[in-house]
Amino acid sequence: MGYNVAIDGPAGAGKSTIAKLVAKEKGYIYVDTGAMYRGLAIHFLKKGVDPEDKNAVAEACKDAEVTIGYENGVQQIYLNGENVTGMLRTEEVGNMASKTSAIPQVREKLLDLQRSLAAEKDVIMDGRDIGTNILPDADVKIYLTASVETRAKRRYDELKEKGEDCSLENISRDIRERDERDMTRAIAPLRKAEDAVLVDSSDMTIPEVVDEICSHCR
Ligand code: DC
Repeated sequence: MGYNVAIDGPAGAGKSTIAKLVAKEKGYIYVDTGAMYRGLAIHFLKKGVDPEDKNAVAEACKDAEVTIGYENGVQQIYLNGENVTGMLRTEEVGNMASKTSAIPQVREKLLDLQRSLAAEKDVIMDGRDIGTNILPDADVKIYLTASVETRAKRRYDELKEKGEDCSLENISRDIRERDERDMTRAIAPLRKAEDAVLVDSSDMTIPEVVDEICSHCR
């Protein structure tokens, strides 16, 4: 069994930035489970599946295979053998992932992949239900959050840097909607595990958050 650190929290809380740095400092493998949901979302977008049509989404899962690999230590997502890593981080893909991740067949599809990685390796795994559902016995559980305003501003800066056209207002609205969906869905909703450490990064620098989390890890 690997040493497992679970890090959950809402969209834009900085989970991936922080988890990558903790992974580097501690020698863990970083596993981004949101990227797996985003990989499947690309499949649904390519097929023109309506995310509200649960049966169509469940059916479309049957011919999707999501696998992961590492190139120079960076996680790569393959969809039916094609490396789709560069396509994952758009608002369109994120919204499709948020909507379809509420459907049981979508979650089932990715469960084994996530658990088997954690069983074999020392990992820091980020997502929404890692501490509550995927790895209930994780050695360390962190719930990383920040205010909606802080998260929206961070997402805005990230997208602007990539040259994407976006508005702070639209991103704030998307984040509120995504929070609502991720936290109220019937299966595996986002919530803090009882034994998770709460870290609110609204007024913390990145190194402060990394130090705080590392202080809980082996
Ligand atoms: O972390 P992210 O923004 O890349 O995740 C995209 C969506 O995927 C998120 O809105 C909800 C879903 N997700 C999930 O349901 N469970 C996870 N463990 C990770 C992500």
